[in-house]
Amino acid sequence: MSPLITHLILTLSLIIHPQLITGEQSFISILITQNGLDFVKNLLQNRAISTITHSPIPKFESSVHIPVIGEVRILLSDVNIHQLNVGVSKVIPGSDGVAISGSDVACDLDMRWHYSYGSSIFPISISDSGTSNIQVHGMEMMVRVGLDTRKGYVKLSTNECNCHIDDITIHLDGGASWLYQAILDAFKEEIVSTVENTITYVLRTELSNLGSLLERLPKLLPVDDVASLNVTFVNNPLLTGTSIGFEISGLFVENKTDTHSFRNSLQPPVHCSDPSKMIGIALDEAVFISALALYYNAMFMHWIVDKLPEQSLLNTAGWRFIVPELYRKYPNDNMILNLSLSDPPTVQISSQKIDSVIYADLVIDVLDRNDTIPVACISLVISGMGSVQVIGNNLAAHLKMDDLATSLKWSNIGNLHMFLIQPVIWAIFETVFVPYVNARIGIGFPLPIIRGFMLRNAEIITSNSRITVCSDVTYDEAFDSTLVYTS
Ligand SMILES: *[C@@H]1O[C@H](CO)[C@@H](O)[C@H](O)[C@H]1NC(C)=O
Ligand SMILES: *[C@@H]1O[C@H](CO)[C@@H](O)[C@H](O)[C@H]1NC(C)=O
Ligand SMILES: *[C@@H]1O[C@H](CO)[C@@H](O)[C@H](O)[C@H]1NC(C)=O
Ligand SMILES: *[C@@H]1O[C@H](CO)[C@@H](O)[C@H](O)[C@H]1NC(C)=O
Repeated sequence: MSPLITHLILTLSLIIHPQLITGEQSFISILITQNGLDFVKNLLQNRAISTITHSPIPKFESSVHIPVIGEVRILLSDVNIHQLNVGVSKVIPGSDGVAISGSDVACDLDMRWHYSYGSSIFPISISDSGTSNIQVHGMEMMVRVGLDTRKGYVKLSTNECNCHIDDITIHLDGGASWLYQAILDAFKEEIVSTVENTITYVLRTELSNLGSLLERLPKLLPVDDVASLNVTFVNNPLLTGTSIGFEISGLFVENKTDTHSFRNSLQPPVHCSDPSKMIGIALDEAVFISALALYYNAMFMHWIVDKLPEQSLLNTAGWRFIVPELYRKYPNDNMILNLSLSDPPTVQISSQKIDSVIYADLVIDVLDRNDTIPVACISLVISGMGSVQVIGNNLAAHLKMDDLATSLKWSNIGNLHMFLIQPVIWAIFETVFVPYVNARIGIGFPLPIIRGFMLRNAEIITSNSRITVCSDVTYDEAFDSTLVYTS
């Protein structure tokens, strides 16, 4: 199995030790459903088959005593397993871990055989060689792993790993028929146990690769140069018999320091309305609030508007009739608008919609020769409706402005008639601010998906204070060698 697959599987196949509720705070939950587990199991299985069929099998040497002829030395070499076919395979999450079994496994071995003998009676040494095919019947494989969360990562332990073969049939081409029986007798058991050991070794190695892959998963998923998503695993995986649930911290943290603390109540399990989806990722409202608080504190929510589609609005002449005093004091001067958020925006997720409120101060600056003179400040409360969608492996958002409330905070240019100014501000927001915000949040942030896996046919469910992404996944072999989250 490749590390990738292993990784996924690992993720899937947790042995959960009897659930110890340590109660660490988690704001993103990930549920891998039976369909998701089957998908990962198939990936692991294909990987294991490919590794097994490329694994060298040691040569077999023996000598047997044949009546009349004497000692015959027999050598089987160039042994290859091919056409490995798993009849039935299952992945079963249970209280003592995750079991993956393959039964009705059939495979073929081909090899070269060679024999030679010489004795004092026959002074000439005689030898012959040919090819041979061995069919393996009734092979079964079983892997059982335990998963628990330790120090923020998922630890995989292999509790059981074995391979059992019922019987083999050997066909020889060429050579002497008297030898057939001798070969069967001499090698049957040895071939069976060598193939069993080789396969067990490959499975064990792949599980151990998967385990170290899981331990190498980053604890922070970079979003941009300001923030990262804390993807530290908390609490032990939860196995239900048909699914595995993982909890991760899920909060946005600043590149340098972490300043916020959030509390959440006991969350309901991840719920997808379409039970056939492979994976469910539930994001608590706090994830979004932590993001907004972080970007607010990083002073990124600050804009100077010096260009508008309607540039006349950035000259006092454009405001002559709306704010006569402004034009009288600073005739025909250019202006800039200095917009800054006055509080972190809020987000409220309910089953019907995602509401957001943005609090901002808009300072009107007049550019008088080389001076920037603030002349008035208007407080804004912008209510918007958000929508989210999955783009690639990112959760992206879109904001639509719903309502705008304005009030005058201070003014050096007399009283402003808000009912005249409000439509202008609305227009500025619709044409400049909202598209700017949407350009940023439209990229979204990466969901915690392991590299190589892609969400497909994702569906989004909003419920009280959480957003759940339910999706199928596909896997791209090309990403196989690295073990990083996609972004
Ligand atoms: C932190 O920010 C720096 C640049 O300021 C960037 O190079 C680095 O990748 C960021 N780290 C994370 C984890 O986002
Ligand atoms: C990430 O979350 C874990 C678990 O809540 C916490 O222990 C850790 O300090 C967090 N990391 C950062 C950088 O905030
Ligand atoms: C915009 O306003 C902020 C604070 O409200 C201030 O720090 C900044 O200097 C202003 N920028 C301009 C160009 O007026
Ligand atoms: C305005 O700035 C320009 C260059 O920045 C300078 O040459 C000019 O003297 C300044 N004018 C005043 C009135 O300060």
